[in-house]
Amino acid sequence: MIEDKRIDLAKLPKHVAIIMDGNGRWAKNKGEHRMFGHQHGVKSVRDCTEAAAELGIKFLTLYAFSTENWSRPKEEVDALMELLVHTILAETPTLNKNNVRLLAIGNLKSLPGKCYEQLQEAMAETAQNSGLTLVLALSYSSKWEIVEAVKNIAQEVKDGNLTTDQINDLTIEQHLTTKEIPHPELLIRTSGEHRISNFLLWQIAYAELYFTETLWPDFDRTAFFEAIVDYQTRERRFGKTSEQLIS
Ligand code: FPP
Repeated sequence: MIEDKRIDLAKLPKHVAIIMDGNGRWAKNKGEHRMFGHQHGVKSVRDCTEAAAELGIKFLTLYAFSTENWSRPKEEVDALMELLVHTILAETPTLNKNNVRLLAIGNLKSLPGKCYEQLQEAMAETAQNSGLTLVLALSYSSKWEIVEAVKNIAQEVKDGNLTTDQINDLTIEQHLTTKEIPHPELLIRTSGEHRISNFLLWQIAYAELYFTETLWPDFDRTAFFEAIVDYQTRERRFGKTSEQLIS
């Protein structure tokens, strides 16, 4: 049941992307170790996935581990990978029950073997689900993705399958890891930081940005609904004037 009556179900974003931030500070505020924050962050992942699925949103992308996160202390990286494997394993039956398909974007080959295998298994097991698609960005950065796309396009030109004159917006789109996914209309970042941090730079060209002071482990379904309500107050003009939108 959608308890927030302010939400207009006819005006939902198709795709919501989230930069989950503030786990470390949340734990520190409680005098706990950083991993305590990440562990509690899983509850917010569950809450938001459930809320998005209930609303009928088609795609939810979560920035779970960036390319830059590899430079965190080894102990934290290892523990985060362990948490990911454990969570994916534990949550796959619930994803199936709720008709949620799991996808992942990023340099997946760079993940530890166990994490990579678990992810592939969970994606295969949920591939037939037709409700929400939950996209985990893992070992992901937008610059990495764009460099990969450019390399592949250059190779196609070299092989004679494409001319430079044929390269346009769509060519780039089709070489991104998100080629099957519509662009997010709403990007949320928690924890009071106002940065994009190398996340979906191409894809958020026209996204509405929503920043909240709430730390990720406190970002529950009520907070998710609040972001949707805020999104629905925005006028999306795509470079046009307000008058053009009315006519
Ligand atoms: C950012 O907080 C959070 C992360 C880098 C990791 C996010 C991971 C989870 C929520 C756990 C599991 C996720 C899934 C999808 C199962 P931070 O550590 O940068 O916090 P800080 O800025 O306060 O230090």
